[in-house]
Amino acid sequence: MAEYQVAVLPGDGIGPEVMEQSVRVLKAATTSSEHQFNYHFGKIGGAAFDAFGEHFPLETKSICEQSQAILFGSVGGPVSESHLERWKNCEANSILALRKTFGLFANIRPAKVYADLAELCPLNPRLVHSGIDVIIFRELIGDIYFGEHCQYTDNQLRQARDIAHYDEKQIADIAHKAFQAAMLRKKQLISVDKANVLATSKLWREIVTEVAKDYPEVNLQHMLVDNCAMQLIANPAQFDIIVTSNLFGDILSDAAATLPGSLGLMPSASLSHSGIGLFEPSGGSAPELAGKNVANPIAQILSGAMMLRFAFSMEQQAHSIEHAVEKTIKQGIRTVDIALEGEPVVSTSEMTDKIIENL
Ligand code: IPM
Ligand code: MG
Repeated sequence: MAEYQVAVLPGDGIGPEVMEQSVRVLKAATTSSEHQFNYHFGKIGGAAFDAFGEHFPLETKSICEQSQAILFGSVGGPVSESHLERWKNCEANSILALRKTFGLFANIRPAKVYADLAELCPLNPRLVHSGIDVIIFRELIGDIYFGEHCQYTDNQLRQARDIAHYDEKQIADIAHKAFQAAMLRKKQLISVDKANVLATSKLWREIVTEVAKDYPEVNLQHMLVDNCAMQLIANPAQFDIIVTSNLFGDILSDAAATLPGSLGLMPSASLSHSGIGLFEPSGGSAPELAGKNVANPIAQILSGAMMLRFAFSMEQQAHSIEHAVEKTIKQGIRTVDIALEGEPVVSTSEMTDKIIENL
């Protein structure tokens, strides 16, 4: 029997209440497996600031270091409190630090429109009926995010610059991840860059094209990022897997996130070379919903499923959680974010009860 350590970082806002539900589902889905899961809770974001005076304290870091997976909730506070020290740079201090510390280079963000929730998709039904199921592979620890950031005054003009940088290994690493995923799906990959302007994008295209030689069965296409933004809205069904750089992935994944109709449905995974992974909902801390037992727990629950798949190779259990979520949606169970007008709604914990029943 293997013993697995999981760091659980609920964070702020709705984080703690959806995390509680996700851990319930994980426990239910893994009881009959031969593995034992130990969950270690740590503070992050504003919750950590209150206790330790910083957003990503050493204690939390060491809990993560002793774990094979990090289950992350969300961080950040209400806009009305953004002037408080507690929230200053909270997201960057927590999330970017975790990514850098653990070398989480591969960010996987699926955006799938459930047939039973197609009405929530903001696009014309004509664009939705053929099915929308896109996965964005975003490089997560390079690019303009982690180059020099500098604000200065020269010639009496206030100026600023941010340096975008990639080396070939960083590009090849995320490309391999995306090609491997493409091999398990439709063998189609669209690589997104701005190679008509940027040097980093010219290198990106060169390296992705070289990596493609290892995957002759995969059909690789290149697309410019501005066109991709348009295509995601004009014809999202054409996409299966997208691979792109950090900044473009940040923006395109938010565009794709509008398609399913609620951020409350969207999980994500961030993987490293060392094996440790971080699993978190794509949405934020939604402070206005916090403590009311109304938030949709599905994004956090599906992040748990991604953890079982990617951190522990428990495909069958991951699939059973995903299947239970789909079945629950099919049964018409709705939290407020995914209910149409007049439809009855359930609470965060009631949604989870149904999902566990359907496991
Ligand atoms: C995301 C977020 C972060 C990012 C912010 C909070 C730093 O937008 O995970 O997409 O830009 O990567
Ligand atoms: Mg973002």
